[in-house]
Amino acid sequence: MTTPYAEVIGDPIDHSKSPLIHRFWLEALGIAGDYRAERVAADDLGRFFAARARDPDWRGCNVTVPHKVAALDHVPDPGGVRRSIGAANTVFRDESGKLAATNTDAAGFLSPIADLDLADAAVTVVGAGGAARAVLFALSKVGVGRVTLLNRTPLKGAALLAGFGLKGDALPLEARLRPDTALLVNTSALGMAGQPPLALDLDPLPDDALVYDIVYAPLETPLLAAARARGLDTVDGLEMLIGQAALAFELFFGAAPPRERDEQLRALLLA
Ligand code: ATR
Repeated sequence: MTTPYAEVIGDPIDHSKSPLIHRFWLEALGIAGDYRAERVAADDLGRFFAARARDPDWRGCNVTVPHKVAALDHVPDPGGVRRSIGAANTVFRDESGKLAATNTDAAGFLSPIADLDLADAAVTVVGAGGAARAVLFALSKVGVGRVTLLNRTPLKGAALLAGFGLKGDALPLEARLRPDTALLVNTSALGMAGQPPLALDLDPLPDDALVYDIVYAPLETPLLAAARARGLDTVDGLEMLIGQAALAFELFFGAAPPRERDEQLRALLLA
């Protein structure tokens, strides 16, 4: 009997938490499948996808740094995701078995804040890299009021706002936060282990602002610590990590993961 499997590819890949997450769900659901981490070098990507496309047990892969853009070149019709986010985090088989690419980061980002009414809201996004693209795409779909994009390189932020058709301003990291901010999101590398902290003055934020950091290593970033010290509600990066994985899992294995067991999964990821 053969075993269906999926995997995460990147270079490096040892740090990836995806195998822990997907294996936890496979076991919880009693699915006889596997999920692995595979280091794939950039110049091996073509060979990798060609070989996997011929393997009937292969259900797909998550794609991480540095392959998120290049992966689009290895699926027959990457149109939608290439035009929107411009990067894929999931390659899977469509109903006819052909390889298809999608990006579950945008919906994964939205999943923990699904109850928040962001129509007409002022949102501040920090960062203008690949992660920011998924977040801005998600915000453009929700239809937020305006976005203030703070980045070390404000010109990059201005290009992203225009590209996603979002109203707002691109400003340097030092800009004062707006007092009507409903949601503040960090998508930048600042606050990650080994990186400088994101040092924003949170005082101007209203008391009901939500602070969301998509960084998950460490789980309590200096930004989230400062937000909690100010009494603000927070969302940490594991929520988006689990959210994007859940959507990919369903594409790979055709079953919804048991999200009621998220607390147990979080404990496993933090152990
Ligand atoms: P990712 O795919 O994780 O978003 P990325 O595309 O390299 O990674 O983007 C990293 C983001 O973190 C960018 O917004 C980057 O700012 P620039 O656009 O000015 O490069 C930001 N960033 C990384 N290191 C930084 C630092 N030391 N100070 C300020 N911003 C930083």
